[in-house]
Amino acid sequence: MRSVALGLSMLAVSAGMASAAGKLNLYCSAQEEWCQVMARGFEDATGIDVDMTRKSSGETFAQVKAEEANPKGDVWWGGTGDPHLQAAEEGLTEPYVSPMRGELHPWAISQAESAGDRTIGIYSGGLGFGYNSDLLAANGLPEPKCWEDLTKPEFKGHVQMANPNSSGTAYTTLATMVQLFGEDGGFDYMKRLHANINQYTKSGSAPIKAAGQGETTVGIVFMHDAVAQTVAGFPVVTVAPCEGTGYEIGSMSIIAGARNMDEAKQFYDWALSADAQNLALGVNAFQVMSNVAAQKSEFAPDLSAVKLIDYDFKKYGSSDERKRLLEKWDNDVSTLPQ
Ligand code: G6P
Repeated sequence: MRSVALGLSMLAVSAGMASAAGKLNLYCSAQEEWCQVMARGFEDATGIDVDMTRKSSGETFAQVKAEEANPKGDVWWGGTGDPHLQAAEEGLTEPYVSPMRGELHPWAISQAESAGDRTIGIYSGGLGFGYNSDLLAANGLPEPKCWEDLTKPEFKGHVQMANPNSSGTAYTTLATMVQLFGEDGGFDYMKRLHANINQYTKSGSAPIKAAGQGETTVGIVFMHDAVAQTVAGFPVVTVAPCEGTGYEIGSMSIIAGARNMDEAKQFYDWALSADAQNLALGVNAFQVMSNVAAQKSEFAPDLSAVKLIDYDFKKYGSSDERKRLLEKWDNDVSTLPQ
């Protein structure tokens, strides 16, 4: 009885402390495990209560837009940069210059500068694909090395990717094809690829988790997501496509009109620190971090060895272009028979 009473009064004290320290509504578009450790890590560092929701990048953009008149989120952390840039252009996010900026790589700062300081880079990662080597062998399929290989007739029903409307990974794939092969060539590629797709998932990393489980042979994802499956013990091989590939600048933004603006800025500063970014390693998040002092995992894909395109973030993160490409994909690609 005594210990119950003691337990309850301790609970009351800690609840009181948490509310005195404030709270934060975090929208998170990186992988679920990483979102969880970021939320708990910030609570531990500050005593601020965090209510975290994980949704894909395109979905979070749509939510922030829908809540524009009555914002419910304070910070949007993670996910590909393009929808963060679109949110900035549409005034859905708040300008902020963090005192931590001096600790960051130039690519993270230029993301901020191109968006009137309404967003900033927190990590980067290259696009590619991964395959389940057991399934590949069992199906007698040749080792895919290039984007073009994934459209070969023998890969019919063997390739999975996310839907570019919900997923930033899949939008990066669409925008990459348009930049690699031109507008017509890129859409022609997406149509031929569509013939081989077994499922469009909501979340970007789901296809490679499915490949790890043996539910699809190939998943089109960021290379670090494929490596994470290999490190977790699944027979997944990561491929940097031979034609070259696009990449993301995973980003963070404060939501305009955030109800917990002070806490939002505190989270923002903390999330740019090397200590916070090092939390990634504990959850197999192998992106390149934006703080120059953050640790790099030995498993992180070496992007300097990958043929990266000069991804035009300004163009493909603009509101008009993102809307146009998604509509075109909806009308011309997703409706085709498979
Ligand atoms: C994974 C990747 C991140 C990426 C995110 C985008 O979590 O590891 O680097 O930013 O996907 O998620 P989405 O579901 O929008 O494709």
